[in-house]
Amino acid sequence: MNAPLWPDDRRPARLNALPKLPVFVDLAGRSILVVGGSDGIAWKVELLAAAGGAVRILAEDPSPELRAVVRNDPKHLTLVQRTWREMDLAGVSVAIADIEDGQDAATFAEAARRRGALVNIVDQPAFCDFQFGTIVNRAPVIVSISTDGAAPILGQAIRRRIEAVLPSSLGAWAQAAKDFRDRLREIVPSKPGRRRFWERFVDGAFANGSQGRNLDGTLDRLAHEAGGEASARRGEVVIVGAGPGDPELLTLKAMRELQAADVIVYDRLVTPAILELARREARRVHVGKEGHSASCRQEDINALIVDLALAGECVVRLKGGDPAVFGRTGEEVAACRDAGVPVRIVPGITTASAAAASLNASLTHRDHAQRVQFITAHDRHGDLPENLNLAALADPQATTIVYMGRRTASKLATRMIESGLPPATPVVAISNVSRDDQENTHSTVKDVARGIPLPGAGPLIIAIGASVAAPPECPLHASSTFTARNGQRRFVSKSELSAPTLVGH
Ligand SMILES: C[S@@+](CC[C@H](N)C(=O)[O-])C[C@H]1O[C@@H](n2cnc3c(N)ncnc32)[C@H](O)[C@@H]1O
Repeated sequence: MNAPLWPDDRRPARLNALPKLPVFVDLAGRSILVVGGSDGIAWKVELLAAAGGAVRILAEDPSPELRAVVRNDPKHLTLVQRTWREMDLAGVSVAIADIEDGQDAATFAEAARRRGALVNIVDQPAFCDFQFGTIVNRAPVIVSISTDGAAPILGQAIRRRIEAVLPSSLGAWAQAAKDFRDRLREIVPSKPGRRRFWERFVDGAFANGSQGRNLDGTLDRLAHEAGGEASARRGEVVIVGAGPGDPELLTLKAMRELQAADVIVYDRLVTPAILELARREARRVHVGKEGHSASCRQEDINALIVDLALAGECVVRLKGGDPAVFGRTGEEVAACRDAGVPVRIVPGITTASAAAASLNASLTHRDHAQRVQFITAHDRHGDLPENLNLAALADPQATTIVYMGRRTASKLATRMIESGLPPATPVVAISNVSRDDQENTHSTVKDVARGIPLPGAGPLIIAIGASVAAPPECPLHASSTFTARNGQRRFVSKSELSAPTLVGH
């Protein structure tokens, strides 16, 4: 006899002990008894009826909520206004009760078990044969979460997170798949072809949430593509906005695309925490450009994403902020179109929006900021662009947001003052927006023109205008500017500001 592959002491642990077995029970037509009239019971009753159970409720004093639930589903629900008796349990598969008194609860549980029913007494785990999980409903897809009573709030938090990553149309995709199985065998007789179909189906179900309307047609098309002789996968490029750095500022769509990607081609400003959220198997390719140097040329990036997509890969082109704001997205879209590669854009939160939010400020204001303008202070050589619209920049009723302005801030501010912008116009310069090391320095256009040091060493955005003035509790005055790091604020004297390092605290 061969020696066992794993001697007992080296056998890998197979499964940790489970406090409860998660199972999905078919309740269609089963008889269920529910005792109690509270709102909590109303929720359980609704759930049992939705799962097809025939539910009889005994309640001396049913809550208005419970009455409404019963009225809404007379097919599955009957309400009788009295207490329970032993004979009510005859033929019952599941017995649920809201009984506070421990002795009464024990009597009910014993009687129900004698009749072979599974028992649940609300909030009394000692008498429960089963518990209700917290559910995410994308029927026919159901996710049920249990913490075995350890922390129901944790269960709800997990549910919210799962809700966020499952598109609302997932149920429709799953139902369409159920109905399509026989037809799939006809269209795609081969097993590898059907595997290709299911891979595409999953990508589609997660990526095209809102496009899940004509699903029969979509599945038909996917099946023909997967079964066709030229069954090379059709790749695509999705240009996705990653926001300014905080992963919580990703959109749900962006999350889904990250989860569906084969390859992620990402910029320098995309943070590691965001890349962490991508599908583990996805290849990551860094194409970051450093400042105004051309370490990775745009033409090379265009060619790379097109080639990957033509090779059948699902490419996520991940960019900081919103791809539509100073992201060279137009060139990448054009390259894809020229090569016949399908391309889509998923917007992101641009740095200006996140910066305003972090200041509790608005970029517009009814009285003193009727326009917002996003400008770059950086031409292809890293200098201040020659063709600035100086009249627009001198508008005291506008909020001006300067991207890529670290090197040229002082020159830009000087030009703005020369063009007529009041020198006392408020300015806030913010580095590393939305990240742990965010730093803000409040000052004026005049201060920036004379070259005050700007905060941080990371990416920097500068907002100019009355709507981004320092908060009232920290008014700017003639001899100070105001700086904040990680929410810690302090005033900085002008003499300090002229020192080379302002915010090394
Ligand atoms: C090529 S632009 C990309 C802008 C991006 N598409 C957006 O919507 O925010 C890069 C510039 O955006 C700004 N930026 C991007 N992320 C930033 C952040 N987290 N904090 C401050 N500025 C940022 C900086 O001005 C940086 O030089």
